[in-house]
Amino acid sequence: MPGELPLPAFSFLPHQPSLWRLLRVGVGDVGSCIPAEILDQFSVQLPGPGAPLIVSSPELAREVLNDRADLFARDKFIRRLFRRAWGQGLAGAEGPAWERQRKAAAPFFRPKAVAGQLAAFARESNAVAAELPTDAAVELNALALRIVSRIVFSVLVDARGAVDPEAVSRDVPGYIARIVDFGPADLLPLPERLLDWLNGVNRDPQARRVRAAADRLAKARGDGLRRVDMIALLEGVGPARDNIGGLIPAAMDTTVHGLSWALNTLALRPDWQTRLAGEAQAAGPLPTLDQLPLTRRVVQEVLRLYAPAPLLARSAAVDQVIGGHRVRRGQTVIVAVYAMHRHLRLWDDPDRFDPDRFLPDRGLNPAWMPFGTGPRMCIAAQFAQAEIAVVLARLLAQFEFLPTGHQPRLLLRTATRSLNGLQVLARRR
Ligand code: HEM
Repeated sequence: MPGELPLPAFSFLPHQPSLWRLLRVGVGDVGSCIPAEILDQFSVQLPGPGAPLIVSSPELAREVLNDRADLFARDKFIRRLFRRAWGQGLAGAEGPAWERQRKAAAPFFRPKAVAGQLAAFARESNAVAAELPTDAAVELNALALRIVSRIVFSVLVDARGAVDPEAVSRDVPGYIARIVDFGPADLLPLPERLLDWLNGVNRDPQARRVRAAADRLAKARGDGLRRVDMIALLEGVGPARDNIGGLIPAAMDTTVHGLSWALNTLALRPDWQTRLAGEAQAAGPLPTLDQLPLTRRVVQEVLRLYAPAPLLARSAAVDQVIGGHRVRRGQTVIVAVYAMHRHLRLWDDPDRFDPDRFLPDRGLNPAWMPFGTGPRMCIAAQFAQAEIAVVLARLLAQFEFLPTGHQPRLLLRTATRSLNGLQVLARRR
């Protein structure tokens, strides 16, 4: 619409990447190497021997992530990243150890179970909102992290005072950066433990504090008290300490980015913000999902525009052909979810914010894949959408978020995030 403030977006490379940029693929910075052609073609082979193939159609994505899941293992960087965070826990494990944990944890994320978790989402949001000053600049990732960490340590891991959620949350961004920051040493064919040592992941003070918190939480579970959190379902099936240590970044990073992009977008689209505030106020302090249809559509649209997991990487287990390209054993194939969500041939006016794309009678576009697909699809897709919707509702019922002119600089790595944060002004209603 004329007069609307522009929404920040990632700029793909106008041309094929240079050799210097391609070297960055090796250290995990794939986003900076993807050419803009991926927005109107469905596959792009990066130049150079063994360079990744990038795909951006729902059909190719499903083929890689689901239909041929046996022929596409998780990429070695992704496996290392998950293992650094999760050890032998749910997202780090492979084969039968993974299957057992996935099956055991699934009931926690079914719609009926999620309905029972909404009150906690609202309670933790209300607690943080009560402390928020009015007419003050707010960095949205920090605000979202405060709320999400309180939810993680009450709903997913019942902490019972064993850690201070907000203290842990302050270490989480540094910890995550350390886990996902691959350095040049990671390209060397060395054992993983040695690579971790060279990378310094075990020496980093923030990483050590988060891991110490995971240890304390695991030990605290020996107190004989009954808990009904996600970890309780995994007891005896997977290592509690590893699962707690993995959940902290997995449940925080993605959701925090989804929530903070949602607030940033609504600050730039005040018409939608007003509608959502009305819906939230009518729903009251403990909303149910039925009371938040507009908010839920906004969440879907924000997860489309700013997919928190923008690039999913797999590695070919055998030589094969995909989308007309020959891929060799060991070659990486990247499902560029961010690009698929803004693809010129898959969406009408893809950069426009239009939550009505998700009206139930329009049917869900198969190119919407923020949680991946196939056997390793996010186990918490319903939980995360409900969490973001309820937190948004509780914040918008009490605050108005206004733009400040801050220009975010987008980066696509393990998350779609802004290098220089997301600043808005929060005003109590
Ligand atoms: C908006 C929020 C979220 C998004 C967009 C998201 C996205 C994803 C994606 C795309 C994957 C698949 C990765 C791949 O195929 O390589 C994944 C896996 C996973 N996610 Fe989420 N996630 C979110 C929130 C959460 C939360 C709150 C939890 C908390 C339990 C969680 C737990 C997991 C786990 C355990 C896996 C691994 C599943 C497996 O390997 O079987 N996620 N997530």
